[in-house]
Order: sequence, then structure tokens, then C-alpha cells
Amino acid sequence: MAFIEQEEINRIRNSASIVDIISSYVPLTQKGKNYFGVCPFHDDHSPSMSVSEEKQIYKCFSCGATGNVFTFVESFLNISFAEAVSLVANKIGLSLSVKIEKKEDTKFKDEYALMDFAQKFYQNNLNTEAGQKAIDYLKKRDLFADTITNFNIGLALDQNSLYTILSKKGYSDKMLEDVGLINQGENGLKDVFQNRIMFPIHNLEGKVVGFTARCYLSELTPKYLNTKETFLFKKGNILFNYHRALDAVRISKELIVVEGNMDAIRMYSNGFKNVVALMGTAMTKEQIEIFKKLRCKIILMLDNDEAGETATLHLGELLEENHIAFLVVRLSGEKDPDSYIIKNGVEKMQEALKGAISFIDFKLNYFKKNKNLNDATDLAEYIKVVIDSLKSSNDIILKEVTLQKLSKDYNISYAILKEQLGLNEAKETSKKVKIISKEPENKNSYDKICSKILYYMMNDLEYIKLYQTKLGIFPTKEYRAIANEIVYYYEKNKSINLADFISFAENNTLKEEIMAIIKNEKDLVLTENGLLELLDILKKKAKKEEINKLKQQIKEEYDINKKIVLLEKITELKKENE
Ligand code: UTP
Ligand code: MN
Repeated sequence: MAFIEQEEINRIRNSASIVDIISSYVPLTQKGKNYFGVCPFHDDHSPSMSVSEEKQIYKCFSCGATGNVFTFVESFLNISFAEAVSLVANKIGLSLSVKIEKKEDTKFKDEYALMDFAQKFYQNNLNTEAGQKAIDYLKKRDLFADTITNFNIGLALDQNSLYTILSKKGYSDKMLEDVGLINQGENGLKDVFQNRIMFPIHNLEGKVVGFTARCYLSELTPKYLNTKETFLFKKGNILFNYHRALDAVRISKELIVVEGNMDAIRMYSNGFKNVVALMGTAMTKEQIEIFKKLRCKIILMLDNDEAGETATLHLGELLEENHIAFLVVRLSGEKDPDSYIIKNGVEKMQEALKGAISFIDFKLNYFKKNKNLNDATDLAEYIKVVIDSLKSSNDIILKEVTLQKLSKDYNISYAILKEQLGLNEAKETSKKVKIISKEPENKNSYDKICSKILYYMMNDLEYIKLYQTKLGIFPTKEYRAIANEIVYYYEKNKSINLADFISFAENNTLKEEIMAIIKNEKDLVLTENGLLELLDILKKKAKKEEINKLKQQIKEEYDINKKIVLLEKITELKKENE
């Protein structure tokens, strides 16, 4: 990754207007000096993010997200810092002295080009004579020219035609095998995909990394043949249709998650663009991380069969554990979203999405399965599993509402239900309270004071000077390191303001600590007296520690004269500290 000089970063930062740049992604309205908008970094519905033209920073009062124009673009578009600097420069018509390449631009360049070629080759096969049958099949499935083109759907023919052409182009067998396009057959190397409709699968950046290939001449197993796991194609890191859905997700703040590629294609081509497919019913850690980064609400709409239902329960629990907001849609009548839209139309799908239910409502239904609630034993068991599943939730209101519903629906004493849930709950809350009350005590005022002083220093040259004359050095290593960075920055740039310092932090090993300070102290009102007070407390504290050290030395000293010298030092320090 190219290194951009700090001066250049500052120059771009200074020429850009944070309000202009952020408002190209999120609508902002002016109120007084500042601008406000809905924060894109958490599930927000009211304008909690303020953007200051004067300070050139943004802050969210709800989730605490804060930074300058570069960190905004970096987080919003999920790109690197250098890419963000380059993008902002571009937007304001400045050019960078170094060329910023996207991470993947150079790595695996040949392999990506190869996959791209294969995709185009398959796509072109639809125009051949053999392609007609495939087009007929697609038509029968209500997939027409537009959708075929948009999703780059193609066809693998019945010979080793891809292998032949790629060999002619000079690709080695090893490379073709490595990316999963050819493999060893009975008569030597051959095309992996033959006689199948080809659906390219893209990585998060939108590059073709693999294929899922459906049989169409007759029903075979597997119905879909997928590219094997390769260094480009890691199924667990991918969500089908992610790169197309991203813009719509950012606008709607919702992501519809379905099982099958066909479901995603059908939804997308009918206007539900914020859709991705899991390509099955499993959800990996990596996919969870992708959801977290998107900071949107998930609408989980799996198939209307037993597998889909069980998966909804498991994936729901997984999403809940990871604190990802989500709702559940259970379709009725048709097997999956694809056939649901074909049969019932777009409006009915819209209604189904509007009728999305909470996870607890899903579970209330799910646990009823195979139970006769008129039977006392079954009913008792049902109530027990529902209450058990409530225990993991932190949502007190949800618990309350569910208990009342159970009480009303099944005519069971509310007090008993509450007791059932409450017994365990009491134990758990006492644990939690302890942890919470321990936190602020442990985070002693010393840390808080240091953090505040450092924040002062990041904001103004005068504050750095005050620190240098009144304190000079932090008593502990970690704060000293950050202070040194600030002083270093100031000496190099001869000025400091928070917006510029944030970009400097971005390029720094102490980035996380510095960003944590900014986040914690962002509401601090800066006054000279405020800083002087903080510096004074620290100074006194340092002296106290010095006194304690001297006292210890006196204890260990045998020479009476030396003892007297130490004592004098203590008296002096004590006097200073008064
Ligand atoms: P489904 O069996 O629900 O497929 O599997 P579908 O979407 O309804 O497909 P059509 O309508 O019959 O064409 C859901 C997903 O599971 C994966 C695929 O990603 C599929 O989209 N799958 C399914 C496979 O990988 N291999 C298979 O053999 C079957
Ligand atoms: Mn399906």
C-alpha cells in the first residue's frame, strides 16, 4: 500500500468540506452551526449524527462514532484509509502524488482475469445452438433476457470446451485446477462444469470467484454443483448477490437474507434489491461479521420447509448471540421466495415482508409444533421451552410482553410465569450488576484524567504548550507514548487540530488507543482552566508517588545523614503539593 505523506493528507483534508462529502452519502440538514443526519454506523432512525463544518469532524450522540472526513468514508464504504484519502481527493478534484491501488488490484490479478474470462465464455454459450435449450429452460422458470444479462447467467456445454480454449490461451493446467475450473476425470483433465446453467458467484468486491451450476436437461444430484473451495472461492466468506445489494441496503438499512441463489435473483429482479442468499441454510462466523459491518436490520426469509424452519431457529439464535437486529418472515403456501413471487406477485411479497415478526413470535409458534396445547403435559412443556428461550434475552420489555401474552393465551397465573423466569434472572442480574459497578471504580480517575489531557492536546497547540510547561511528562508509559505522538505531530506540522490528527492516528500503531480517547472525550468542553486543573491533579499525584518512594527509601536506609536528606526532600515535595 502506498504511503501518503502527512502534509498531503492534511492538504486534502483542509480542502475538502466534511459536510459536502458526508452529504453525498447521507442526507444532512442544518441546525444552527452544525449539520445533522441519520447515523449510518448503527441502527438509527432519528438524526443522531452531527457534522461540524467548523471542526471538520462528525460525531454520533447515540453510538459514539466519530472521526474526520476520511474515517467517515473509510467506514461507510468499508475501504482502506489510503483508498479513502484518494477517494476524497478525487471528489474535490485534487490529485494524489502516489497511486493508490485497491487491495486486490495486484494480488491474484491473473486468476481474477481468468474467472472473468470463464464467466464471459459461459455467457456466450447461450448464443450457440445448444444454448437454445438452456434459454428455453430459463424462460420456463420465468427468467428472461434482462435478468439473464444482469446476473451474467451462462451455460457450460457438454465437452471440454472451456479447458480447450483456456489451454490455447496459455493458461497452465495447474492454474485452471487451482481455481476450480478443471479437474481430473477418467480420461484425464476435463471441464468441471458440463451441461449446466452457470451462475457466477462474486466476492464482496464484485469479482467473479466461483460458480454455482444447475442441471437443466434432467434432474441430477447434486442439483447445484459449486466451485470447490479455492483460494479465491471461500463459500463461507461470501454472500450471493452482496455486491449488487449493497447500495440498496445502505438506503433501506435492511438486508433480506434468503437461502437460494434463485430466490435472491427473483427478489432482486422484482425490485427487492437489498437481498443476499446464503447458498444453503448455514451461516458462518465470517458472514456474521459481514452483517455486523453493515449495521442494518436483517430480514431472515428462509424456505418454507422443515429445513428452513429449523435453520430459522438456529440462525436466529446465532444472530441474537451476536446482537444483530433481525426479524423473521415465514412464507406460506409456496416452497421459497422464488416460487412465492411467481405464484403470488410482487405485492404479496411486499405484504409478507411488512408482516415480518420478531424472533420470539417465531419461537412461540415454532415450539408449538407437534404439541397438543389442550394437553396439560404438552402445554407445561411448551411454556417451559418458551420461558427458557426468554432467559437469554436482555430485553426486559420483550420478556414482560411475552409473559403477559402467555398468561392471557393459556390462562396461567402471571406471577407463576414471572417467578419461573425471575428465579434464574435474579441470579444473572446480580452477576451483571457486579460487573457493571466494578467497571467505573476500576477505571480509576487517573486514567480518566490522562485521557482528558491527551484529548486537550489533540485539539490545540496552546494545550500542548501548557502540558509541556506544567507537566512535561506523563507518569506512565502508555500515556507518554500517545503524548509523544501528539508532540511529534505538532513539531512536524507546526499546528494541530482534531480533524487532522485523526488521519495521523489512522496511520499510527496507537490508532486504537487514540480513537478510544477521542470517542470517550468527544463531549469534553475545552477551557484553559479545565486543563490546568487536570494537569495540577496529575502533578500532585506524581508527587505523592514520589513521596511514597522516598519514604520507602528512608525505611531501607541505615545512614542517618542520608535519612535526613531524604526527609528534607519529602518535606519540600509536601510543601509544593499543598
Ligand atoms: P434449494 O434446493 O432450495 O435450491 O437450495 P433452489 O434455490 O430452490 O433452487 P431451484 O429453484 O431448484 O433451482 C438452496 C441453495 O442451496 C444450495 C444452492 O446454493 C441453492 O441455491 N444447494 C442446493 C447446493 O449448493 N447444492 C445442491 O445440490 C442444492
Ligand atoms: Mn429454494
